[in-house]
Amino acid sequence: MMYRAPGRINIIGEHTDYNDGFVLPFAINKYIDLEIEKSDKYLFHSKNSNQEISLNTLKKTDTWADYIIGVILEIEKKVGKISPFNFRFSSDLPIGAGLSSSAALEVVTAYAINDILKLNFSLEKIALIGWNAENNFVGLNCGIMDQFASALSKENHALFIDAYTKKHELIPLNLKEYNFYIINSGVKHELGNSEYNIRRNQCEKALKIIGKESFREVTNDDLSKLDGIYYKRTKHIIEENERVLKTIDALKNDNIEAIGNYLFESHYSLKNLYEVSCEEIDFIVKKLENKVAGARIVGGGFGGSVLVLSKEDEFKNVINNLKYEYNKKYSIELEYFEVKSSNGVEKYEI
Ligand code: GLA
Repeated sequence: MMYRAPGRINIIGEHTDYNDGFVLPFAINKYIDLEIEKSDKYLFHSKNSNQEISLNTLKKTDTWADYIIGVILEIEKKVGKISPFNFRFSSDLPIGAGLSSSAALEVVTAYAINDILKLNFSLEKIALIGWNAENNFVGLNCGIMDQFASALSKENHALFIDAYTKKHELIPLNLKEYNFYIINSGVKHELGNSEYNIRRNQCEKALKIIGKESFREVTNDDLSKLDGIYYKRTKHIIEENERVLKTIDALKNDNIEAIGNYLFESHYSLKNLYEVSCEEIDFIVKKLENKVAGARIVGGGFGGSVLVLSKEDEFKNVINNLKYEYNKKYSIELEYFEVKSSNGVEKYEI
């Protein structure tokens, strides 16, 4: 039996999930596949990198296996000790491209163990196990978006998540003659993870200065209490949440062009107010301006991918020149692909 969990892209709502805000991701048709069997020791095998890590007892490895180990430990917190497994992973999901390969690893692991041991965990619970693994064991204090998207998405829908209540709703995704594309910048700046946690701390500090319990209660009036980075971070969060709601309205009203503008607005807010973009990504977005409906950096930032909303012919007209100029400037061959929505984690037969 095989299991697979998808990566995700986030249409809009970036750096809002850990601030009690709104996000609108969907699972994409690129997956981490897992073949799993019970064993007398732990084996973590990656077919893509031909890497194998074997352990008798679970401990931190400082490798990708930590995502899986973290999940096993979270499950053991709930049900007690479980038997070891052999895990064999393969994937067509680019790693480090801001498409949540780590959440897909966590979710597919939790889902498969739940299925084999008949633990009866709901998909929400599986998502939260992945999220806890990442926060408690791997050490990235991420929000819930990626694991929820990988676990709960449905084909042809976006998943609206309210990170405050953890309620979620499927929003039909009909893009008319537009498509979503991913352009992988090919860079992932090292400071990404540390800056992510720094942003979280800055937001907590901003909330303290404002004197409110949750960002959900923060309004434009509160901005007058803030300055410098605290003002900028908070302004981004307020406006990005509004953009998520406006994007949902636009989807419901078939106004896809408007979504393109929200993507550009989101990008410039992430660049100037939240300060999580980088030179290479900004180069790509700039070149796409006035050529496609919308584009923005996706995920945690400091590299990774650009999400593009565009008609097919308009995208084709711009991508070759962009590839050429990017290569000339950064000596990196840009990769790009169209992304389609997909179901969340599932089991399948070979
Ligand atoms: C990473 C995290 C998510 C979210 C995004 C930024 O992908 O895992 O929880 O915070 O960054 O929106």
